[in-house]
Amino acid sequence: MKPPRQFYQPLAIGAPTPLRELPVKLERMIHFVPPHVEKVTAKVPEMARQVDVVLGNLEDAIPSDAKVAARNGFIAMAKAVDFGATGLWTRINALNSPWVLDDITECVSAIGNKLDVIMLPKVEGVWDIHYLDQLLAQLEAAHSIKRPILIHAILETAQGVNNVEAIAQASPRMHGISLGPADLAASRGMKTTRVGGGHPDYAVLSDAAPGATRQKFQQDLWHYTTAKMVDACAAAGIKAFYGPFGDFSDQDGCESQFRNAFLLGCAGAWSLHPSQIVIAKRVFSPDPGEVTQAQKILAAMPDGSGAAMIDGKMQDDATWKQAKVVVDLARLVASKDPDMATRYGL
Ligand code: GLV
Ligand code: MG
Repeated sequence: MKPPRQFYQPLAIGAPTPLRELPVKLERMIHFVPPHVEKVTAKVPEMARQVDVVLGNLEDAIPSDAKVAARNGFIAMAKAVDFGATGLWTRINALNSPWVLDDITECVSAIGNKLDVIMLPKVEGVWDIHYLDQLLAQLEAAHSIKRPILIHAILETAQGVNNVEAIAQASPRMHGISLGPADLAASRGMKTTRVGGGHPDYAVLSDAAPGATRQKFQQDLWHYTTAKMVDACAAAGIKAFYGPFGDFSDQDGCESQFRNAFLLGCAGAWSLHPSQIVIAKRVFSPDPGEVTQAQKILAAMPDGSGAAMIDGKMQDDATWKQAKVVVDLARLVASKDPDMATRYGL
């Protein structure tokens, strides 16, 4: 790691100064758009009012012969649409692909002042972040970009998981990390063809008396990686996200997977289908009952110290901090969503 004094210096003369704190933003869902499909991009102005982040996808799921059309479509969409407070992100192609250099240079030169975050797939270690960090600084300087474009890494290789703590701390440009369960499953040799979610065979059996039926409890395939990613991100002061849930017909499965991620500390998840926007909004906005309880805790201990009993439950400095996480998030949701503001009483 660089010495502290150098860590926050721009990597190119004329590039904007790196941020010390992440911008405070609600990012419950990162909504994926295929920018070469006009039927979809036509709906983006309306979509931008419903979601927290619009992401133009240039990587997997975009056919090789549509890569250039997707990039051009993303740039046109970014120029044409007023995104207001909604985030504008792109997922570029992998660093070893033939498209990535043009993805980066063309996006920064054409729309660098509108682009909030670049999502970088298949990050293996700090070297990937350092490469993009340096290149972005050079391009920002060359094109007079006013604020640093942030980097969001996808955690989707076994080596990336090994290096996740270092990746999270690699640069002040790091915004966060998303779990990429499909590529990660392949990289690890996991025997599932699903995109995220559980698997009925990943289970434990209860003990039982001889001859009695044993109960089977399905386990969460992604628990270990999500928890490891959350710790790496929280320790670095950046945000963790659940990635894709590929079975659009299984809304309960999607909600349950998103909820586990939310409870473990994730800020949001990807939405690949409009039905998943609604799910992510529901899951990643705190429950009004939980917010009321958290407000009671804060009110009972105004300076955040000491101990109090509320409804028979012990509260102290630590539960005050837990309550603050919930109320701060509720305030952020309320600032964007008047219906939720009413439900929270904020
Ligand atoms: C996402 O990119 C994944 O591989 O799951
Ligand atoms: Mg992937």
